[in-house]
Amino acid sequence: MKKILGIVASNRRLGNCEILVKEIARRVSIPHELRLLRLPDFDLRYCTGCYRCLSSGSGCILDDDLAQVLEAVVGADALILAAPTYFLGAHSSLKIFLDRAISFYCMGDRLWGKPAVGVGVAGMEGKEGSTHLDIERFLAVILAENLQTRILYGALPGEVLLKEENRNAVAEMAAAISGDPSKKREGCCPICAGETFRFLEGSKARCMLCSHAGEVSLKNGRFTFSPEPIAHPILFGKQNALDHRDWLEGMKKLFRQKAKELRQVTAGYEDDGEWIMPEPRRPV
Ligand SMILES: Cc1cc2nc3c(=O)[nH]c(=O)nc-3n(C[C@H](O)[C@H](O)[C@H](O)COP(=O)(O)O)c2cc1C
Repeated sequence: MKKILGIVASNRRLGNCEILVKEIARRVSIPHELRLLRLPDFDLRYCTGCYRCLSSGSGCILDDDLAQVLEAVVGADALILAAPTYFLGAHSSLKIFLDRAISFYCMGDRLWGKPAVGVGVAGMEGKEGSTHLDIERFLAVILAENLQTRILYGALPGEVLLKEENRNAVAEMAAAISGDPSKKREGCCPICAGETFRFLEGSKARCMLCSHAGEVSLKNGRFTFSPEPIAHPILFGKQNALDHRDWLEGMKKLFRQKAKELRQVTAGYEDDGEWIMPEPRRPV
C-alpha cells in the first residue's frame, strides 16, 4: 500500500486546493492511503539565518513544527501539493517552509526523490503570477521528482472542479502519480524542466528555477533554450545538493576566519537610524 501525502497550502477548508488534492488521490489507480497536511495549520517560524543547523546534526534549533512536517514528507511514497495564488504568487506557507531548507540537509537523503505532482490554483485566468514557479521550486528544494506541475483556474470553493478541462488535468496528474509516463514537456529548461525565464540582453534568457542562462531560439514555431554551464549549480540532483551543503560549510569557516575584518565593516553601521519595534499586544 503506497502512502500518498497531500500537502494543502491553503487555509480554506474544503477550498479548491483541498478538493483538488483529494480528487487527484481518488483517481490514483494504485492501492494507496492518503494522509493530509495543511501547511498553514503548522507553526513554522522564519529562518533566522544562523546556520547552526549545518553543524548541529539534528536540524533547526527553532522550537516549532518543522520536524513534524518534514517527518510527514519523509514518510510518504508520493506527494500531491496544492497551493492557491495569493497576490500573484503561491501562498506564503510554501516559502516559509522552504526558507528553512538549510536544515533539511541534516536529514540526509531521506527527504529526496519522492515522485510528486503540483497544482496551483488561481481565481482569474492568467493571473497566477509566479505560482507555477513557486510550486516547481518547492518540489526542487526537497529534490522531489516533479512529474507534473499545473495551474488550474477557479475562484469560488469547489469551482475548480466544475470545469471539464480541470477535471481532465486532474486525471492526468493522477495517472502520473499512478506511474504512467508523463508527456515530455517542450519549451522548458533542459536541465531542470523549469518553465519560467527572464529575458537578458540580446537573445539570452535565464531559467528562473535553476538559474542557468543561455540562448533562446525559435525553431519550428517553438522556443528552445540552450543553457550554458554555471559554476555553482544548486538543488538539481543529489550531488548538487551535497556540493551546496559543503559550500555552505566552507562559507561558515570563512566567516570565522574573517570575523574581525567583517566586524570592522559592520560595526560602523550599528547606531544609524531608530528601529521601530513591535508593541506588546493588549490582552483580548
Ligand atoms: C488574499 C487573496 C489573494 C488572491 N490573489 C489572487 C491573485 O493574485 N490571482 C488570482 O488569480 N487569484 C487570486 N486569489 C484567488 C485564489 O487564488 C482562488 O480563490 C483560489 O481558488 C483559492 O484556493 P483555495 O480555495 O484552495 O483557498 C486570491 C485570493 C485571496 C484570498
